[in-house]
Amino acid sequence: KTTAGASSALALSGCLGLFGNSDKIVIGSDIPYKPFEYETKEGELVGFDVDIAEAIFAEQMDRDYEFKRTSFDGIMGSLNNGNFRIIMSAMTINETRKESVDFSDPYFTAYQTIAVLEADNITSPEDLAGKNVGVQKGTTGETAAEGLKEDLSGDLEIKSFDQITGAFDALLNNQVSAVINDNTVTASFVNENDGVMFLEGEGEAAAQDENAPPYYTLTVENYGIGFRQDDDEFRQEVNDALAAIREDGTYDEIYNEYFDG
Ligand code: ARG
Repeated sequence: KTTAGASSALALSGCLGLFGNSDKIVIGSDIPYKPFEYETKEGELVGFDVDIAEAIFAEQMDRDYEFKRTSFDGIMGSLNNGNFRIIMSAMTINETRKESVDFSDPYFTAYQTIAVLEADNITSPEDLAGKNVGVQKGTTGETAAEGLKEDLSGDLEIKSFDQITGAFDALLNNQVSAVINDNTVTASFVNENDGVMFLEGEGEAAAQDENAPPYYTLTVENYGIGFRQDDDEFRQEVNDALAAIREDGTYDEIYNEYFDG
């Protein structure tokens, strides 16, 4: 039920003006980022963010909305240029980003993880010394890779791809030895591809967070919806709607659909 509306919204994307002449909330997002925002084989836009948007904007706020594709790198500049009203793109809240955008309350917790090929016998981050690692450009995965590179005294080549699928393909094609990326998105890739696994071990996040997944984690992060810094009233409305869907069980229902089976 939720996805049909979003998919026709995607088809309309770009046809409507943003300020004033349309009531529609335009949502900037980099697609695909499965399971948060991606298309089915039939071309229908689905995902956790898409269902959360439906619950917040359509059900709670009674507003029309549409997703608009944009590259992740530069998504904040694009928001600030008025290309869309908000960002929903599995986007991590952090201090650097808060200098240019505001965020909603956190709505999802994620961890940076490392995917490797089973055949490569990489059993610790140190094994990546002298190798290539793939990331999506402009992401916290890229930042985490830079941190790992420092730990390896610079002995790591970071290859940044416009979309995460580029990094995943590079791993399958042996062009990189690892992909650093958000855990649940990498989990969906690992599940769909034989011969790919998470690098095991505790990592840094495990010490900070008892819910950290049981493999090597570099960070703990929270996703937020991104807003322009002059959009406080709307941001508050969205926070209220987010609180309401947490309260009435809708959030849990959506969560379980994508993550708990
Ligand atoms: N959570 C990471 C970040 O904020 C990755 C987000 C990528 N999202 C996407 N839709 N491609 O940097």
